[in-house]
Amino acid sequence: CGIVAYIGKKEAFPILIKGLKRLEYRGYDSAGIALLNGQLHVYKKAGKVSDLEEYTKDKSIGATIGMGHTRWATHGVPNDCNAHPHLSHSESIAIIHNGIIENYASLKEELQKRGYVFHSDTDTEVLANLIEEVKKQEKCALEDAVRIALNEVVGAYAIVVMEKNDPDTLIAARKGSPMVLGIGEEEFFIASDASPIIEYTKNVIYLDDKEYAVIKRDGHYTIKTLGNIEKSHAIQKLEMSLEAIEKGGFEHFMLKEIYEQPKVIEDSFRGRMSATDGWIKLGGVSEFSTKIDKAERFIITACGTSYHSGLLAEYLIEELARVPVEVEYASEFRYRNPIINETDVVIAISQSGETADTLAAIEMAKERQALIYGICNVIGSSIARVSHAGSYTHAGPEIGVASTKAFSTQVSILTLLALQIAQSKGTISTSKLRQILYELEHIPEKIEETLQLDGQIRELAAIYKDATNFLYLGRGVNFPVALEGALKLKEISYIHAEGYPAAEMKHGPIALIDEEMPVVFLATNQSAYEKIVSNIQEVKARKGKIIAIVNKGDTQIRNLADHVIEVPETEEVLSPLVTVVPLQLLAYHIAILRGCNVDQPRNLAKSVTVE
Ligand code: G6P
Repeated sequence: CGIVAYIGKKEAFPILIKGLKRLEYRGYDSAGIALLNGQLHVYKKAGKVSDLEEYTKDKSIGATIGMGHTRWATHGVPNDCNAHPHLSHSESIAIIHNGIIENYASLKEELQKRGYVFHSDTDTEVLANLIEEVKKQEKCALEDAVRIALNEVVGAYAIVVMEKNDPDTLIAARKGSPMVLGIGEEEFFIASDASPIIEYTKNVIYLDDKEYAVIKRDGHYTIKTLGNIEKSHAIQKLEMSLEAIEKGGFEHFMLKEIYEQPKVIEDSFRGRMSATDGWIKLGGVSEFSTKIDKAERFIITACGTSYHSGLLAEYLIEELARVPVEVEYASEFRYRNPIINETDVVIAISQSGETADTLAAIEMAKERQALIYGICNVIGSSIARVSHAGSYTHAGPEIGVASTKAFSTQVSILTLLALQIAQSKGTISTSKLRQILYELEHIPEKIEETLQLDGQIRELAAIYKDATNFLYLGRGVNFPVALEGALKLKEISYIHAEGYPAAEMKHGPIALIDEEMPVVFLATNQSAYEKIVSNIQEVKARKGKIIAIVNKGDTQIRNLADHVIEVPETEEVLSPLVTVVPLQLLAYHIAILRGCNVDQPRNLAKSVTVE
């Protein structure tokens, strides 16, 4: 979900609507707004922010304090009633919430016994009523009621609260969900990330977990812990530009982000290596480099696309640095009482740096004395802050819900990490190291070349857009790419797709193959080339439609496949950076041709801050 709030001298409504549009990638099944101008006006609608905007056209919207929310449903279906903001029983308190209140059922029961009536199925309405009840019982200020109520709550949240009788105060609190406070001239902004704020001020404070802020119209603010202890935070300067969060001439964010890959990969390794001089320096690990170099094992934990770059890193680190690697879904890792030793290094990979399961996984590993190395894209994000060591991917804001450039920059950083460890362990020769670094430097231009296949891929998409299933097969480093290709397609086009190790296909998916089934082969691996050719033969014998990603000039596979996509050749360990690009484009074009909303696919959210 996305949260935005404003207090100051300007009209709140346009700031909130614009902010919600910028946050819409975080959740888009419903949206709502509360404005306070003597009256507390709440407008909410299932659907997009634009539906809400349409709905408010003839409504009273003049106010200089307000809050807005864009929802990704957890408790209760997406409808007008479950949309936020929620009002308390007496309609004196309005609240927006991102997260999950785990003990909401028992709290609700208790409140119902006291006569509270609920209008929605949400856990948030429970919180609104709990605050109201505490305020009544304790006869205290809103601030105290919020703090006391939050101490009774189990779960994760980022909330903003305002009260009908106090148009000069906003209260914001967080635990496990991100929250940024923007400090302007006699005005304040609160949001889930900096994107709604950047246009107005570059001065921000990131609230820490279990903290809340009391923000006053007169320009004063206080930040306290939930234990009621005042905290002081340094104001930070946002480095993000407005341009980076806009579409810049592209029809969709996803396409823009696919096309940004040459540039952002260069940004990810800039200043961190030199092929000519044969050095690598990931600044964020230097303090811990001895521990990292001596690690007896790496455990990589992540979700979604970031998990795929983790799988790829297993190949890279084991191949180049000869250290054992385990890769785990964060949601499994955190709950299965894993064996973690002090000599282990746990690598968390996360674009947003806020994924609840990944964050919880590293908190658990940290308690067990492992060194935590975070690879995040969002600067100042929770995972980045919890980690001991880390590297930012420098992909810039990724708005399209289906991750593209975040993946390739993660892979670029993980490659550097593998090489850095290999260098200090002496498991790679100087000449091989230089050769890979030299190739890495040339990856941006090879991706640029691959992007020129866009037209060809669009034609291919037109042929297969009505398929109901897709299979993606690869071996070695291109097996995780197969998984990622399948994930991209299912996320945005809703076609069922599976990624498999090419040889494993014969133990199951081969049963699915008939003349209707498109099979995408990643066939650029030099080492496993003949094996892939055999796998292609197996599919061809069963009349599957073969789309093969091959190296330029390949003739053998061209004679077997129905379609070939020729990409420039590179070092095998780096090939995923190139081979993933046509798969991103294929998914994009198929989704567009099927009329899907590629930037905001149904049911998904960009930043999953609930477990
Ligand atoms: C969500 C997004 C995915 C992303 C995953 C992990 O499911 O839709 O695109 O890969 O979360 O997110 P993270 O921010 O931790 O990389």
